[in-house]
Order: sequence, then C-alpha cells, then structure tokens
Amino acid sequence: MSNIYNFFSLSIYRDKIKLSEKNKKEMVEEILKMKKDSDKGLKPIQNAWTGDTHGHEYLYKNEKFHLFYKEVEKHIINYMNHFELDVNKLEFYFQRSWATLSNSQEHISAHDHSQSNLSFAYYLKKKKGDAQFVLIDKTKHNEFIPQLFTSVSADRNKIFKKRTTSNIARINIDPEEDDIIIFPSKTLHGTQKNINNSERISISADVSILAKESKNLEHLTPPFKEWKKFENA
Ligand SMILES: [Fe+2]
Repeated sequence: MSNIYNFFSLSIYRDKIKLSEKNKKEMVEEILKMKKDSDKGLKPIQNAWTGDTHGHEYLYKNEKFHLFYKEVEKHIINYMNHFELDVNKLEFYFQRSWATLSNSQEHISAHDHSQSNLSFAYYLKKKKGDAQFVLIDKTKHNEFIPQLFTSVSADRNKIFKKRTTSNIARINIDPEEDDIIIFPSKTLHGTQKNINNSERISISADVSILAKESKNLEHLTPPFKEWKKFENA
C-alpha cells in the first residue's frame, strides 16, 4: 500500500478563555469608549475599526484587561509545548495589543505581523454569522502548478474533486465567542468579506520571544535587559 507523508505543517492553536460576564462587559465598554473617542471617520468605510491604528495599541496597560492577559499567557505557553520548546529558556513579551470592532460589512484585509513572533485573536463578542477568521498560506509546498489552489476558474471547472488540507491555500476558522486562536505572526490572515457583522469584537496582540541566556546561541533575540539604547537617537 502506498503512503503519503504530510510534512512542514502550520499548527494553529484554539481554546477557550472563560472570563466572568461582568469582566467581559467591562472590557466591551472600554473598547466602545476607545472607538468612540478615536473614530474620526477617517478609516475607509469597508474597514473594521482597529485599535492599533487609532492610538490604542497597548491594551494590556488597562487594568480591566489584567485577568484576560494572565489567561492568554497560559495559552501561549501551552502552544509552545506543542513545539516542544523549553519555555524556561525563553522570555515572552506582549509588545502591543489592541481591539478590533466590525459592524455591518466591515472587514480586515489579509495582512501579517512580521515584526513579531506570535499573534492571537480572542473573540470577546461574536455572534453566529459574524465574519470568520481567514488564514492564507504563503508557502504552498504542495502547489506544483502555480496559483492552482486559489484559481477561481479551476473551481468553476471543477478541476478538484474535493478540497482537503493537501490542496488549499486558504482556510476559514469560525471562532465562537470566548475562543482564542494563536498563530505564527508571519501567517497571512484577515476576516471574511461581505458578511453582516453585528458589533463583532476581538482582541489581538503581538508577542516577542527572546532568549533568557544568549551565550553561544544564535537566531534567538538576546534578553531585553542586555540591550543598549542609542544615546543620541
Ligand atoms: Fe492581524
């Protein structure tokens, strides 16, 4: 019998964060306030409101989000276990964090967070039918005919009998409220277009991972405490 080996996978983490309804309500109210204070109608009408581009990119400094980030830390560490990393040799930093809010057909176009290592999306408010989370594969190791996996005409002509994880370059995840999804920051991602959202609120953050000890070690960023800031810049 023949075998197929699937190598070089992309591993996406998903779990739930259970906060009290009271705490969630406080967080929602804070985010609505941020949006109200910063939304000058400057963003393109089809784009979701994103806190990072409206002066609210350090959400973890807000006390009302304290418990939430404590929970996120546990999930990031869990995700690291999947990669068999020794977290005792690493230090983790939230480098920025923000909320997103989508109403009606607002969406978030495909992008990545290439200045960071890990990112997440947590769904503070999400109803059934709100836009799904979209992941896009840049590597496409299996795509031996270029652009075939995303070809609209190939789909129209039913070139594929069936779509499986071996022949796709894009996948939708339909998160529920309270879900957290963690992924490598370099992964292209966005939200579904042409969907009617009813105040869909998510929280994201970028996480940097550094070495605790840099001696004889390449590739990992040295510990933050050893860095020296320019004196004249
Ligand atoms: Fe993002």
